[in-house]
Amino acid sequence: MITLSFYKSEDFEDLTSYTLDEQQSRFTAMPKATLEIIKEKNTGDKFPISIFYQNKAVGFFVLDFGKDKFELTENENSTLLRSLSINPDYQGKGIGKTAMIVLSDFVKENFPDCDEVVLAVNFNNKSAYNLYLKCGFRDEGKSREMIKGFQHLLSKRI
Ligand SMILES: CC(C)(COP(=O)(O)OP(=O)(O)OC[C@H]1O[C@@H](n2cnc3c(N)ncnc32)[C@H](O)[C@@H]1OP(=O)(O)O)[C@@H](O)C(=O)NCCC(=O)NCCS
Repeated sequence: MITLSFYKSEDFEDLTSYTLDEQQSRFTAMPKATLEIIKEKNTGDKFPISIFYQNKAVGFFVLDFGKDKFELTENENSTLLRSLSINPDYQGKGIGKTAMIVLSDFVKENFPDCDEVVLAVNFNNKSAYNLYLKCGFRDEGKSREMIKGFQHLLSKRI
């Protein structure tokens, strides 16, 4: 069973026990670095989320309600999903896909005013791009150029 829950300090060990290879690490930020930035900025609008599989935290992402989302949407009631990663030992088992599907109910339950999740995915990150499309994210052809290349800007109504 795959579930989402707000990150807790008990999850730290599991979420910092994995690394990504050179190719994958170009596409995301690791949980440890992300948690440090969130703590340092302390803006109160960024929510780290742990992905659980059989009672183990095997993945991570952030729901960011700060201003960065306005680079992707004009919708004030949206959130920006960022820094998604799954522990490589657990990749390819459908965990990322299920997490992105149950995301809608998680957002509805915890952020009832939020009606859209937006995200940016690198043109070269085909597996993540395909995963998002299978989980209800829509590509309406929007993109942007960042230091690491072009990104598709995707959106999911919830
Ligand atoms: C992208 C990522 C989150 C996918 O997680 P995962 O749990 O391995 O994915 P799943 O097992 O749920 O796979 C779901 C779908 O994604 C696609 N996919 C996943 N891994 C793939 C791979 N290595 N090659 C091709 N497609 C792949 C497939 O379309 C798959 O669909 P299917 O189940 O119909 O075959 C994971 O590979 C990861 O952490 N990557 C590095 C960080 C990253 O790129 N994050 C996204 C930033 S935008």
